[in-house]
Amino acid sequence: MEGNFSRSPVADHIAPHKNPAQNYFMKALILSSSPRKNGNSALLAGAVRDGLAAAGHEVAFVYAEEVLSSFLRDCRQCRKPGGECAIEDNFRRTFFDHFLPADGFIAATPVYWYGVSAQLKAFFDRSFCYYAASYPRSAEVIDGMKGKRIGLVVSSEETFPMVSGGIVSQMQEYARYTRGAFVGVVHGIGNARGDVAKDPNDPLGQARRFGETFFTRHTSDYQIDTPRNGRVWG
Ligand SMILES: Cc1cc2nc3c(=O)[nH]c(=O)nc-3n(C[C@H](O)[C@H](O)[C@H](O)COP(=O)(O)O)c2cc1C
Repeated sequence: MEGNFSRSPVADHIAPHKNPAQNYFMKALILSSSPRKNGNSALLAGAVRDGLAAAGHEVAFVYAEEVLSSFLRDCRQCRKPGGECAIEDNFRRTFFDHFLPADGFIAATPVYWYGVSAQLKAFFDRSFCYYAASYPRSAEVIDGMKGKRIGLVVSSEETFPMVSGGIVSQMQEYARYTRGAFVGVVHGIGNARGDVAKDPNDPLGQARRFGETFFTRHTSDYQIDTPRNGRVWG
């Protein structure tokens, strides 16, 4: 398979919900999915990148607009004979070189009609071509999709918390389905470009701290019989 497909050396030994030791450096991919490349969600994504880099992690920052030229099509009609996607754009390279090897994936999106941007949705949809059983190396792809830490940064005009509820739910389900760990959300309020910098909740500061602690912060999704001591912190 083309592309540098290997995870960070320690990743195989760390369940995604556990905190890796502070001195392990991990690989992260940030996908900034607004068509406004200098808009609010991109600003938040940049702050996450700064935090990850400050903590020593390796970060790839990708604009969905530069990767995707099309939605998913009918793979039966569209595939090349060897199983490759026939859509000529940068999705395959991004997916194989950055997404699959990443220990963590952070999606940045504006709220569009109470959901994610079409670009972010298309990124997830397009992965189908490679994890579907009809792709010759789908087992390796599925292996690469599993067990990541997943994060979300969102910008919206409306302030009501559940304006992003559908998106949070979608990402949490994605993390569950891929046996990953949903680390959390940073939500900034703004409409005009740069508005999030004026949000009194300081989402840019939150995003930077989110990046700094992305691979070390506690995250949990207990079942009733999960052994635990009743304290979350300390
Ligand atoms: C097509 C479209 C749909 C939108 N839908 C919503 C919405 O449902 N709720 C909301 O609060 N803001 C909505 N907005 C506003 C954006 O979420 C807001 O301007 C956001 O900060 C844009 O992020 P960006 O600068 O990263 O593109 C919408 C904007 C557009 C262009």
